Parts: sequence; structure tokens; C-alpha cells
Amino acid sequence: MEPQNQPFETRIVPYDEAGIAEAARLIADGLPVAVPTETVYGLAADATNGEAVARIYWAKGRPRFNPLIVHVGSLDAAERIASFDHTARDLAGRFWPGPLTLVLPLRGESGIASLVTAGLATVALRVPAHQAMRDLLAATGRPLAAPSANASGRLSATRAEHVLAGLGGRIPLILDAGATELGLESTIVAVGPEGVRLLRPGPIADLGVALADNRSGRVEAPGQLASHYAPAKPLRLDASERRPGEWLIGFGTVAGDSTLSASGDLVEAAASLFDRLHEAEASGAGRIAVAPIPDEGLGTAINDRLRRAAAPRG
Ligand code: TXA
Ligand code: MG
Repeated sequence: MEPQNQPFETRIVPYDEAGIAEAARLIADGLPVAVPTETVYGLAADATNGEAVARIYWAKGRPRFNPLIVHVGSLDAAERIASFDHTARDLAGRFWPGPLTLVLPLRGESGIASLVTAGLATVALRVPAHQAMRDLLAATGRPLAAPSANASGRLSATRAEHVLAGLGGRIPLILDAGATELGLESTIVAVGPEGVRLLRPGPIADLGVALADNRSGRVEAPGQLASHYAPAKPLRLDASERRPGEWLIGFGTVAGDSTLSASGDLVEAAASLFDRLHEAEASGAGRIAVAPIPDEGLGTAINDRLRRAAAPRG
């Protein structure tokens, strides 16, 4: 089976007990489903399953891997995934459940797939208020990664019909609970030693805390991230063989010290990309090489990320 090429007959079902049960079954099978939150509709998948997360990117047609927000049911569940300091706990206490996303240090034993954070050492977390998303979190018992349920570069979806127009044929199910209340994606802040930095303005205008200068400063495109995972070693692309001193990450017929996917499956390759890069960084080799990846479907996002990782840094 090649899930990345498999069209779906997308069904809209009402948000009720049967709808939640069906959505939870699909998520357990590693598929993404659309679900309303109080901000916008999200496209949710099991955040601990890298291939499920890869299918989110495939469905959205995202040309690059931006890190995704992980949704959980409670502060307790969030504290199993990230480290909270006093300030983070205070913000969570005042605004959760609700439209606030906290970017915090990722814990080592979180179980979150590396594709969710795009290889970063931080993770974005949110406890949503909408009962449909809360019921789905309870029914799956998993943390759910969920970007807005729109095709890449298009407007966010605030109704099930918007989701269908954008993602129809690429996802199996849309849970319909009518229009979302806020219609605007969550406010995102990073909390760290340098204070609280606003990464994305949103429904919560006044957080009641002083904001630190966002020193990374450059806001690239809306909703996009200024800092990216970058390996500490030089990276060579389109490598069909290993040169002396290199750790070769293979793909398909190019065998290496490791492989993104021996069968040439792009879903598997996307899911394993950041794990293979971290592993190469930790190896004894001084340089990293990566086999050619076809520039189609998820391969576009994989190549985008590899080109950024290979670009000279200053
Ligand atoms: O309201 C919302 O937040 C909606 C609903 C579905 O919850 N979700 C949403 O997700 O807007 P998404 O994937 O469209 O936006 C995620 C953004 C990324 O573009 C990035 O800017 C930021 O969250 N982000 C995620 N992880 C991050 C990290 N580790 N560091 C910095 N920014 C991060
Ligand atoms: Mg979005």
C-alpha cells in the first residue's frame, strides 16, 4: 500500500458519540481526521506516530515541515511532554483550556515524533477548550498534533465545508460541529530564560505578563518559524555513494549507514527524517551525506528541509 498516493472518500459526520468513536479509530490506524477547535478546524493525528504526522503534511500539500502544535487534555498531560517553569505554569493556569499555545523545552521521554517538532528541542503545546477536540483527546488517549485543516497557503477553515473544499479526497473524515467560535488561530508564546516572547498574535491580546523582545526578530512568513533545526555537521545532498569521513543516509536503492526508507516510501522517509539526521550528528563521522529524494509529494518538503540544513550558516 502507498498511503501517500491513496485517495480518500472524505465523509462529513456530525460531532456526536458515534462520530468521535469513528474518528478515534481512524487516528489509532495512523490517519489524520479534521476536528473543530474553538479557534479553527484542525487536522489531527497521533503525535507519537511519525507516519501519521507525515500524512498530515501530505494531506495539506505543505511544501515544508513547520513544527506542529500538540494538543493535550490537561496540564498534567502537557507536563509529561515539556518542562514547565513558574511562568509557563502561571500562563497555563490562567488560559487553559483555551486559545493559548506555549512553546517549551521538549522532555527527553516525551514520545513525541520528531517530525512534529521538525527536529527542534522545543515543542508547542495547547489544551483546547472545544468539547469535540477534548472528546477526541479522551477517546484516543494520545497527544494530537494538529495544524489548521486547510490546504497549504490557503485560508484557515472555520466550517466543515471549508475543510471539505480544501482537503476533500485527501483525508477520510471531517467531524462537523458547525462554525468555530473564534475563527483565528491561537496566540503562541515561547517561554524560556529570556522571558515570554510572542511568536504569533492571536485571540488572547493581553497575557498579563511583560513580553520580552523577540530577538530572533525576523518574522518570515505569517505562522512561520524563524529558527530551524540545523545539524552541527556539514551536509551533502544528492549523494549516491559515501565519501571518506561521511555518514550516508540512504533512500530506496541507495543503501547507507542508515536509511530514510529502504523501500523508497516518502511517508516513511518524512517520518524518519529528523531521527536519521540526529543519529548522523551523533555518529563519529565528521560529515553527513543524504541520498537523492524524488522532488514530488512529501519529497518536496523533505528536500526543502534538507536544503535548509545544508545551506551555509553565518
Ligand atoms: O489555533 C491553533 O493554534 C490551530 C488549532 C488547530 O489548534 N492550530 C494551528 O497550528 O494553527 P499550525 O500548525 O497552523 O501552527 C503551528 C505554528 C507553526 O507555524 C509555528 O509558527 C509554531 O506553531 N510552532 C510550533 N512548534 C514550534 C516550536 N517548537 N517553536 C516555535 N514555534 C513553533
Ligand atoms: Mg495554519
